[in-house]
Amino acid sequence: MKIVAEKRALGEIEADAALVFVLGQEFSHEWIEDSTLLESLGFEGKAEQNLFDSTHRILYYALDKFDIDLLREASCKALRLLKKYPFKTIKCGICDRQGKTLQALQAMIVGFLSGDYCFDAYKSKKTKSKLATIVFSLASHSGAEIDAKEFERVRKECETMLWGVNFARDLINTIPDVATPDYLAQKAKKLADDVKIDCKIYDEHYLQKEGMNAFYAVSKASAHPPRLIHLHYKPKNPKLNIAIVGKGLTYDSGGLSLKPSDYMVTMKADKSGGCAALGIIGVLAKLGLDVEVHSIVGATENLIGGNAFKPDDVLTAKNGTTIEVRNTDAEGRLVLCDCLCYAQDFKPDYIIDLATLTGACSIAVGEYSTGVLGYNEKLKRSFIKAAAKSGEYAVSLPFNRHLRKMIDSKIADICNVGSARYGGAITAGLFLGEFIAEKYRDYWLHLDIAGPAYVEKEWDINPFGASGAGIRMVVEFIKKLLKDK
Ligand code: BES
Ligand code: ZN
Ligand code: ZN
Repeated sequence: MKIVAEKRALGEIEADAALVFVLGQEFSHEWIEDSTLLESLGFEGKAEQNLFDSTHRILYYALDKFDIDLLREASCKALRLLKKYPFKTIKCGICDRQGKTLQALQAMIVGFLSGDYCFDAYKSKKTKSKLATIVFSLASHSGAEIDAKEFERVRKECETMLWGVNFARDLINTIPDVATPDYLAQKAKKLADDVKIDCKIYDEHYLQKEGMNAFYAVSKASAHPPRLIHLHYKPKNPKLNIAIVGKGLTYDSGGLSLKPSDYMVTMKADKSGGCAALGIIGVLAKLGLDVEVHSIVGATENLIGGNAFKPDDVLTAKNGTTIEVRNTDAEGRLVLCDCLCYAQDFKPDYIIDLATLTGACSIAVGEYSTGVLGYNEKLKRSFIKAAAKSGEYAVSLPFNRHLRKMIDSKIADICNVGSARYGGAITAGLFLGEFIAEKYRDYWLHLDIAGPAYVEKEWDINPFGASGAGIRMVVEFIKKLLKDK
């Protein structure tokens, strides 16, 4: 779907139909052709209410009030409706009431592009929409003033962002029989070639040689060998060096601590953190930002078999820490702890890991939010602000010394699960924190995306299935770090 702009007023632009957002009861707006029609049909302007005026070929879509987040969501949902019509071209104006023209434009483009996403790889009958072009009117109205150059900048940025989000969605939605660790590695290699960045892929022998035994242990029962994926983007004059580490469990059966059947379904999405890490570096490289990025993905399956690692095993991670395994379903932290050690070898200024780490995180903060954990409260706050700007929800989960004691082990340095289930998302974060060297502790963030990564009932701009959670907020945060530099 193409997004273009014209300087002409909305009424003068040729298109098959128009999309007009109606803010509450504001029926007098210049883009509303027939306000009596809205009134006579009982249009109340309540959120998500919509009406197609076939005479004027306008889809009216209601928003309770002017709000950037509501506008993004409405744009996504209105586009899904428009795709059901036989229209090829749709026109619209920038819906702005508070002089937030750029943010409104950005929200609308992101919403449209997300609404256009469809994963039907496994359907015999593909849903084909005719909608090919959206034309924005840039003519000034109600304070909206934006030139073609600025429009192009915003369009390119949003398209790049959604390219990354949709790249991750496709990969996460791919079934586990196909999306094996090596498949992820090959997709990473292709991405690296496309955006001209460096790519290194390591196998199980490398993990053993480097003492990444926690990661290796998780992979042992699988017929598909693990892959450590390392993408590296280095622009000419980087202002910062950032490591993004992602959990890439292409399937999590729980291992010998096997998950009950109902909980196993959707575990193809346990690679969401890893796929986000790939999307993020892709977006940053495409945008050509002045930041060096290492994206490191621990890709493996967690299965059962004669060679499986076991509760009672003690594993030695890359940094020498010994780990008592009491539950093989807490495998993400075992993969990540070695990847985090590996990441610190590249002397990053910041380390951000993304993982569908714990069901406990969704229980704590709900399915819509990412849990943000780390030692530096200021850094966490700054991240959460950037997340909100990006349109993603993020919530701080606090460490404390009592919870830390819950992962003490009697037989090893640390235990892979807490002594009680309470605070499970935090004890998981504290476990990872043990692998962050003292000098990096203030510069590390752990993002638990277990809630928002996979969607079983559409919400906001997220379609059914993989959402691509984490990409928009991390890119926004990195842009902020660069701006403040
Ligand atoms: N991949 C799961 C976490 C998860 C659960 C992600 C639901 C998305 C939706 C993780 O590996 C896991 O199984 N964690 C356990 C930890 C427990 C054994 C301490 C959990 O959350 O139950
Ligand atoms: Zn698990
Ligand atoms: Zn898992």
